[in-house]
Amino acid sequence: MDTNNFTEQFYEKYGNRNSRPVLFFSPGRVNLIGEHTDYNAGYVFPCALNYGTYLLVRKIDEKLLRFSTVNFNDDAVTPLNGLFTNTGKKWINYPLGVINEFQKKDVKITGLEMLYYGDVPNGAGLSSSASIEMVTAVALNDFFNAGFGTLDLVKMSQKAENEFVGMNCGIMDQFAVGFGKKDNAIFLNCDTLSYENVPIILNDNILIITNTNKRRGLTDSKYNERRSECERAVELLQPYKAIKNLSELGTNEIAILDKYISDQVVRRRAKHVISENGRVLEAIDVLKKNNITRFGELMNQSHDSLKNDYEVTGLELDTLVYEGRKLPGVIGTRMTGAGFGGCTISIVKKSESAKFMTELAISYNNITGLKPEFYMPEISDGAHRIES
Ligand code: GLA
Repeated sequence: MDTNNFTEQFYEKYGNRNSRPVLFFSPGRVNLIGEHTDYNAGYVFPCALNYGTYLLVRKIDEKLLRFSTVNFNDDAVTPLNGLFTNTGKKWINYPLGVINEFQKKDVKITGLEMLYYGDVPNGAGLSSSASIEMVTAVALNDFFNAGFGTLDLVKMSQKAENEFVGMNCGIMDQFAVGFGKKDNAIFLNCDTLSYENVPIILNDNILIITNTNKRRGLTDSKYNERRSECERAVELLQPYKAIKNLSELGTNEIAILDKYISDQVVRRRAKHVISENGRVLEAIDVLKKNNITRFGELMNQSHDSLKNDYEVTGLELDTLVYEGRKLPGVIGTRMTGAGFGGCTISIVKKSESAKFMTELAISYNNITGLKPEFYMPEISDGAHRIES
């Protein structure tokens, strides 16, 4: 990221070189294990990336907000008079939703000029949206001395996404983006929101993210369908136990699902959630013992469960994963995020990583006709101000 060039773009867009904008950064995230568990009050294990969203912002005297992005041609100017309404399918809804949350909490927002730049691919399941929300939240908190803690900002960003943007996501993405810590992943209990930073020490292995480059069309409706299936499972299990969430059941209780849930689909959804929580707990345990081989096996099992029981994978993700597993040096590989498209996350031996990328690109292209993209991320800190 060339910050001088970015600042220059800001001045070209908005003029007035006498008033310097302030730079903020918010990461994207990748989830290492614990998928579709957050909205079931379960465990997740994501980490923040060195890819994310940069925001340059400064105050102006006019009573309006100016939005612009380097990524595409889609500027907006919004007058500041009360709460905003959704402007249709536009990226500006992410910051607008967050600004609304500040206004609802009686923070007086005055005029701003904002320029965004994102280097996390959009719609690839690496939380570009949570990244835009959190960079806005951190900047507003700073500029208007609102005094919110990171958890408040995380919750406000999730609310913006749920209520303003209309995507009924859990808390994992905003939490990872807000609380990220360099070289650590976050072991989060989504019920209590207590968390622990766990160092990611991979010895002679690296993390590789592979983008299917498949457009994720039906993700939102399928996502909501999965949420309702989990709610249905909780209802059906009431005669067994008065649970509020599937994550209240342990892996030793999976067998009882057969007795209480006759709908095979709903039963498999519940099985995924409960078994995935078990995998996260074991994954943390083995990681702390530096057993990367077992961690990789658990990643593999997680993908298999997401494919067979939760059914959120599809040809592209499965091809990357199952073709990937045939290659030497692959310790573990699975889809990450909501699924249906987006990315996989793999742990690969450093010495085999170049071969992994070359060979996987060929077999993936042969099978799907698509070209994958590879990223070798660093694990970074959560959303923050970069300079004054
Ligand atoms: C999306 C949602 C998250 C989480 C994942 C699946 O990324 O935004 O809240 O539910 O899917 O684990």
